Amino acid sequence: MYNQPMLRDDALKGKTIIITGGGTGLGKAMGTYFLKLGANLVITSRKADVLQKTAEEMEKETGGRVLAVSCDVREYEQVENVLAETLKTFGRADSLINNAAGNFISPTERLSANAFSTIIDIVLKGSVNCTLAFGKHWIKEKQPASILNIVTTYAFTGSAYVVPSACAKGGVLAMTRSLAVEWGKYGIRTNAIAPGPFPTKGAWDRLLPGDLAEKFDFKNRVPLKRVGDHQELANLAAFLVSDFSAYINGEVITIDGGEWLQGAGQFNGLEAIPDDLWDSFAQMTRSAKGS
Ligand code: COA
Repeated sequence: MYNQPMLRDDALKGKTIIITGGGTGLGKAMGTYFLKLGANLVITSRKADVLQKTAEEMEKETGGRVLAVSCDVREYEQVENVLAETLKTFGRADSLINNAAGNFISPTERLSANAFSTIIDIVLKGSVNCTLAFGKHWIKEKQPASILNIVTTYAFTGSAYVVPSACAKGGVLAMTRSLAVEWGKYGIRTNAIAPGPFPTKGAWDRLLPGDLAEKFDFKNRVPLKRVGDHQELANLAAFLVSDFSAYINGEVITIDGGEWLQGAGQFNGLEAIPDDLWDSFAQMTRSAKGS
């Protein structure tokens, strides 16, 4: 059931949605579903050839309209160009999904200052650039709109070995909550999704090369014992950019099967204890009570 489309067919009809990093992975999965729900789509990334191919594929699969604009989100002028091209083609923009990201898994002391800045620039500055360009436009036009930021559960817990990404995603989360309040009066809703493990070829191959993906099997970290399905993330994203979520503003919705909490609870490790050992523990604690 969770891998089935959730919203009714015309849920995003008439909306134009921009997804950064929309050429591959989760961005592509979300975009394809938005098209099926009747939206017009704009996808951006640095790789023009990948984008163009994805756009054609998406149009063929869904019958919707897709505009591919190459853009490095670190460059404000390029982001402004995405806005201009969107308006030229579709006449309007309704939702921005800040999805483009970069990450290095590494001991922090092995990273150069430039490597650290590169991730901050893509994730934090990139999301800021897009939010600012589109936000200014919406405020000027007095147009209600929504922003959806794709963060991660370690935006609130922090995480070793991905420190630049944790810093940047933490910043994006702060921006989400701040602008939800500041721009609420303009009818601009700002929300975030914090996904747990949703395997994608790009991130998985790059972040966990070789047999690391098998050794570090994510589903064992998840109470529900499975990784996420792209459609269930797409369902949540579609709901959050649709008018069905019109009263949700400043929220970050975790979709991780309970993963981050499993790492947090002090006694969660007791999961490893088998039933017969619980029996002898029960006997021991009961007899200790009387002594
Ligand atoms: N580990 C550590 N440092 C790395 C690295 C790695 N795997 N790859 C590059 N760097 C360093 C470079 O050496 C350089 O630093 P230096 O100038 O001090 O030598 C710095 O990072 C910038 O590298 P560069 O290749 O110029 O960056 P870029 O802007 O072209 O690309 C990324 C950066 C992150 C976009 C690119 O590596 C990429 O496409 N990564 C995959 C996307 C991704 O991470 N997706 C998962 C999202 S969760």
